[in-house]
Amino acid sequence: MGYKKFIEDQVTELKKTVGSATAINALSGGVDSSAVTALGHRALGKQLKTVFIDNDLMRDGEPKRVAKVFADLGIPVEVVDAKKEFLSALKGLTDPEEKRNAITNAFYSKVFGRIVKESGAKFLLHGTILTDIEETVAGIKRQHNILAQLGIDPEKAYGYSVLEPLKTLRKDGVREVAALLGLPKDITKRIPFPGPALAARIVGEVTPERLKTVRAATAIVEEELADTGAFQYLAVLLNDKATGIRDNKREFGDIIVVRCIESVDARVATATELPWKKLNRICERIIQIKGVNRCLYDLTPKPPATVEYV
Ligand code: XMP
Repeated sequence: MGYKKFIEDQVTELKKTVGSATAINALSGGVDSSAVTALGHRALGKQLKTVFIDNDLMRDGEPKRVAKVFADLGIPVEVVDAKKEFLSALKGLTDPEEKRNAITNAFYSKVFGRIVKESGAKFLLHGTILTDIEETVAGIKRQHNILAQLGIDPEKAYGYSVLEPLKTLRKDGVREVAALLGLPKDITKRIPFPGPALAARIVGEVTPERLKTVRAATAIVEEELADTGAFQYLAVLLNDKATGIRDNKREFGDIIVVRCIESVDARVATATELPWKKLNRICERIIQIKGVNRCLYDLTPKPPATVEYV
C-alpha cells in the first residue's frame, strides 16, 4: 500500500473515531511519536493536545528543539517541566531495573497520568508500531497496557480509548510516513535513542551533575560521529573513577565510554572501526569536560554486551 493512501485512510479513521471529542498524546521527539503527532494533528487539529514531558534526562537543548520543529509545522506542543519529579524518583537508585522502573512510573503514574486525567481527553494517541507488538508478544519487551500504566482502569473509566494508528507499520514505513507528513530529516533519520534517555547511559546514580557530564559527552560524540553513517553512537558515564594528573596535581576523575555500532535492527551489533584520528579527537574533546580524565572506546559486540549500559 502506498504511504500517501495510508495517511489518508488513517486521517479519515481518526476523524471518524474521535468525532467531536478531544485526544491527547505525548511526544518524545523520536520518529514514532513524532509521526503520530503529525498524523493526529492533520486529522484532529485543535482537538488533539500534544505534550512534551521534560524529564531532565534529554540531550542538550532537546525539549526546545523538538517543540520548535513542530511549531514550524504549525503544531503547538506544550512542554511540561517535570524535571523535579523524575530526578526525585531516581534519587539514590543504582540498580538498572529499579532506575528504569522509576522512570516508567514517574512518566505514567505521576506526570502523564495526571495530565491525561486533567485534560478531560477521552482518546489517547500512541505511536505503537508493529515491531513493538511483535516484541511484546515474543516476550522481548515488557507487556504494556497503556491505560493500566496510567492508573486508568479501562473497565471502570468508561470512554477512555487508546488509538494506535501506526500499529501496522515497521520502522522504515514510519520514516516514510513521517517524511510525507513534512517532518524534517533530523527526525525521520534520527539515530535510535532509548526511552529512559540519558539515564540509560549513566551507570550508578542519576544526579544533576552526572547528567551534565554525560550530556556534554553526548553532544561531542553526536557531533563528531554524525558523518560516519553508523547505526548508533553514544557516550556513557561509568560509576567508577580513575586516577589522573592535571595541572601537576593528581585527581580522581570520571570515565566516559564512547560506543559506536553497526547494526540493522539493534538485535546484534558490532563496534564500528573508527579511524584513529577521529577517536583521538573525540578523546581530546571529552577530557576537556570538567571532572573527566579518561575516555575509552568500547569494542564489545552485542551479544554479549547490550547497546546501552543500563
Ligand atoms: P540494548 O541496550 O537493549 O538496546 O541493546 C537495543 C536498542 O534499543 C534501544 N533501547 C531502547 N529503546 N526504550 C527504547 O525505546 C528503551 O527502554 C530502550 N532501551 C534500549 C537502544 O538505544 C538500542 O538502539
